[in-house]
Amino acid sequence: MSGTRRVLVTGGAGYIGSHTAKALARAGHIPIVLDDLSNGHAEAVRWGPLVIGDVRDVEAVRRCIHDHAVDSVIHFAGLIEVGRSVREPDAFWDYNLNGVAAVLQAMRASGVSRLVFSSTAAVYGQPENGSLEPLGETLPLLPINPYGDTKLAAERLIAAYARAYGIQATALRYFNACGADPEGDLGEAHDPESHLIPLAIEAALGLGPALTVFGGDFPTPDGSCVRDYVHVSDLARAHVLALEADPGPDGFAAMNLGTGRGYSVLEVIAAVSRTVGRATPHAMGARRSGDPASLVADPGRAQRGLRWRPRYTDLDEIVATAAAWRRRPAFGPGLADVLSEVA
Ligand SMILES: NC(=O)c1ccc[n+]([C@@H]2O[C@H](COP(=O)([O-])OP(=O)(O)OC[C@H]3O[C@@H](n4cnc5c(N)ncnc54)[C@H](O)[C@@H]3O)[C@@H](O)[C@H]2O)c1
Repeated sequence: MSGTRRVLVTGGAGYIGSHTAKALARAGHIPIVLDDLSNGHAEAVRWGPLVIGDVRDVEAVRRCIHDHAVDSVIHFAGLIEVGRSVREPDAFWDYNLNGVAAVLQAMRASGVSRLVFSSTAAVYGQPENGSLEPLGETLPLLPINPYGDTKLAAERLIAAYARAYGIQATALRYFNACGADPEGDLGEAHDPESHLIPLAIEAALGLGPALTVFGGDFPTPDGSCVRDYVHVSDLARAHVLALEADPGPDGFAAMNLGTGRGYSVLEVIAAVSRTVGRATPHAMGARRSGDPASLVADPGRAQRGLRWRPRYTDLDEIVATAAAWRRRPAFGPGLADVLSEVA
């Protein structure tokens, strides 16, 4: 199919979903957002209608598809915080697996076959003790926490629907999503925030506590963990491309989305200090259980299959977009700091 798509974006009021809705609109498509606003922001939905509802409700999803003549779905909605998934596995299995099951049932009932799914590098678990090699999609899938378990189970359910019912699906396995819309319309507005770059920026700006670096004795060049930081606008663009990609004869493909270049936690802290122009207060702490030394993508499959290449490869540039957002957020928890500054 070419031309304008009418795309159901579940979780489109959240961080990555809202950036993707903007990218869809820029590419000439119509995003229809379905979100329960449990962790998203109505102000982030500016490029198409917002339907407030629960993605686990098959009838609500089916109605949304029908009322808005939807022809494709991008499924972001779900719970995302790894630590919480260990404390509340019941909620994670419910939201993340019943959510995708309801989307698939509603798609099948409505004759909609094109799906792009938010997956994660967490499906790889803790690859090879101490390995610093980039991770390809053919590695064993051995998640080590309930969050990763639910995402892998969701991928498998989608693959089974693809084989049995002709769904055409691409699962995109993001590494560390980061940064903000370069035009300042959107950014990361999680409450509580658990991601490194926004927490480091808050610490540097004096808006949050000093950062704890979890582990300084990993087998990496400076001893801190290495991760692959991929800009949210690059992720958004990959979703638009994935809508048109051919997932192959099985109707299902999984692809890594990362830059292929890793940065250590201490390198991120240095980049934040340079970009914000102030030292980032931080202290070294113990390792967290289950944190691998290095998680860096081999993005070759997405580069070939989607003709996708991240535009943001420079860490300082990525951090600069996130810092600009944190200084002037258009919505979200950080807005209170801006308003109190003005008052
Ligand atoms: N942020 C990352 O680094 C990262 C990395 C890998 C994968 N992912 C995946 O990407 C997706 C989006 O992540 P994000 O960072 O934008 O998260 P987010 O929390 O900002 O967005 C998720 C959105 O889903 C909505 N939602 C949750 N449960 C819902 C339900 N039952 N019905 C309707 N809406 C519901 C929330 O309100 C929120 O707006 C998630 O599936 C996440 O697992 C994120």
